[in-house]
Amino acid sequence: MEAIRTAVQEKYGEAARRARSGSSATCGCGASGCCGPDPITSNLYDDAQAGTVPAEALLASLGCGNPTALAELNAGETVLDLGSGGGIDVLLSARRVGPTGKAIGLDMTDEMLALARENQQKAGVTNVEFVKGEIEQIPLPDNSVDVIISNCVINLSGDKDRVIAEAFRVLKPGGRFAVSDVVVKGHDVPADVRRSMELWVGCVAGALEEDSYRDKLARAGFEAVDVEPTRVYRIAEAKQFLENAGITDEIVLAQIDGRFMSAFVRARKPAAPEIAKACCATTCCA
Ligand SMILES: C[S@@+](CC[C@H](N)C(=O)[O-])C[C@H]1O[C@@H](n2cnc3c(N)ncnc32)[C@H](O)[C@@H]1O
Repeated sequence: MEAIRTAVQEKYGEAARRARSGSSATCGCGASGCCGPDPITSNLYDDAQAGTVPAEALLASLGCGNPTALAELNAGETVLDLGSGGGIDVLLSARRVGPTGKAIGLDMTDEMLALARENQQKAGVTNVEFVKGEIEQIPLPDNSVDVIISNCVINLSGDKDRVIAEAFRVLKPGGRFAVSDVVVKGHDVPADVRRSMELWVGCVAGALEEDSYRDKLARAGFEAVDVEPTRVYRIAEAKQFLENAGITDEIVLAQIDGRFMSAFVRARKPAAPEIAKACCATTCCA
């Protein structure tokens, strides 16, 4: 856990420094060695969305999906972004929930928080707060958030059960979990891939298998769990990245082909039990 946390902070701290110097932050998911566009993080936002955030926020984007395009967000709601990075999804959410709502970005990397706060200032958005902390220990009260979003962060955690339990705890009854993440199809991912720290911090090695993701959410108490593929990665797109991480064996590469995908993962915390409400209205619990 500690080794992963340190490696993630180093990698994403470097990405934030690049973005603050005006370069693209592309040493995040899928990119190796800060070397340009990659199949996971590129072309996630359409022009309409891109036009509403500062160019720097877009440059700093390191996600693998577009959770705010797929999530239901209503005026007045509180949205929490787990691993908010340069803040693009927080800024987009803040506009959607409007002045009576609030968007909170949570990140553990100081450089990312500084970048996100700069982007907030440039965007002139005030219903936003960036908070330092870990997604395994969310520094918010129980039942305080309407929607949890996240963009390619849960795969980076060394303790996914804890993250999911924390998400459940802070969501209000009826609250929505609406997350983009890298997900694996099938359990037999080659050991070389799982062992690579470079691939872990690049959002691949730590990715959960699709059914495990569903099981973990259900076991934490979530209902209406759904995993919807948004982009499936073919080996031709990922070959350079994998080779840079030391995965060159053609047999191993063939095993990975089409097995990793970006997915939109959604679930709901059950509403307050009807039975409890009914009991309060009658003498049945007395
Ligand atoms: C792949 S980037 C994604 C950033 C952002 N969601 C986006 O779409 O651009 C991962 C971000 O999550 C943060 N992060 C990773 N693991 C974390 C953890 N356990 N707790 C808090 N933040 C974490 C990193 O500091 C980094 O900013």
